[in-house]
Amino acid sequence: MTIAYLNGVFLPLENAQVSVLDRGFLFGDGIYEVIPVYGGRLFRLPHHLRRLHDSLAGVRITNPLSDAQWTAMLTELVSRNEGSDQAVYMKVTRGADKKRDHAFPAGITPTVFAMSAPMPPVRDLDKETGVSAITLADIRWKMCNVKAITLLPNVLLRQQAIDAGSVEAILINDGYAIEGAASNLFIVKDGVITTPPLSSALLPGITRDLILELAARNAIPCREADITEAELYDADEVWLTSSTREISPVVTLNEQPVDDGNPGPVWKQMILLYRDYTNAVRRGAAD
Ligand code: PDD
Repeated sequence: MTIAYLNGVFLPLENAQVSVLDRGFLFGDGIYEVIPVYGGRLFRLPHHLRRLHDSLAGVRITNPLSDAQWTAMLTELVSRNEGSDQAVYMKVTRGADKKRDHAFPAGITPTVFAMSAPMPPVRDLDKETGVSAITLADIRWKMCNVKAITLLPNVLLRQQAIDAGSVEAILINDGYAIEGAASNLFIVKDGVITTPPLSSALLPGITRDLILELAARNAIPCREADITEAELYDADEVWLTSSTREISPVVTLNEQPVDDGNPGPVWKQMILLYRDYTNAVRRGAAD
């Protein structure tokens, strides 16, 4: 049975209910996090709690729990659910008032919800064939660094990609490739990894952050720089990264092969380092 957490209580997921006046339901007024769990251990929890804190500050919701309380709650949630590899989804909304009003109501308590689902099985790297993506115009708002639950543009963009037979949309803003609808973007050209620099145009991904760390630690050339649309199409490798998809090699872009249409050597090197890291998390040797 899947166990969820809602406002201080652990309960079966199907029994978790919130008011229709919750501002998350009325306005998409809230923020969320997705945290992978490897071997029962929450991956990079301090990083996720920092981003949660930043997202809450960005939308002016007071953090309802201390880091110690978040840690205790999430650890208990993971232990109450089956499987050693899980994906935790957690959210905070501004809460429910007695009526619908765009302005912040005074004195309401934020709603805190979390649930956990099994992670998809670890992919066999030798059988990795890569994914296809299309480029689409970035129709999102100007605070994409905030992990807001207001995801209608991302949902529409992802579905447009799926309808076109792809798995993800790479978003183009003013001639620059920014990120995926639910993932960060990397390219490789002549052995150098590039990802767009952090700004309000994209989410500061925790996976992105780890890839930058792993590249630096292993002396793999890597830089944060804007990626033009032309550079995207000319790349030797294109990757999409997120907590649930790790590092996905894009082998087809707008129906054209990326390089020779196979996952590239730099991706292979990085995914092996990434897997070493997640295995270290499983052993308790990394966080
Ligand atoms: N999404 N950019 C966007 C717009 C995202 O939604 C995500 C993740 C990322 C990658 O961030 P991270 O590496 O911290 O997962 C980048 C999550 C997984 C989701 O919405 O389910």
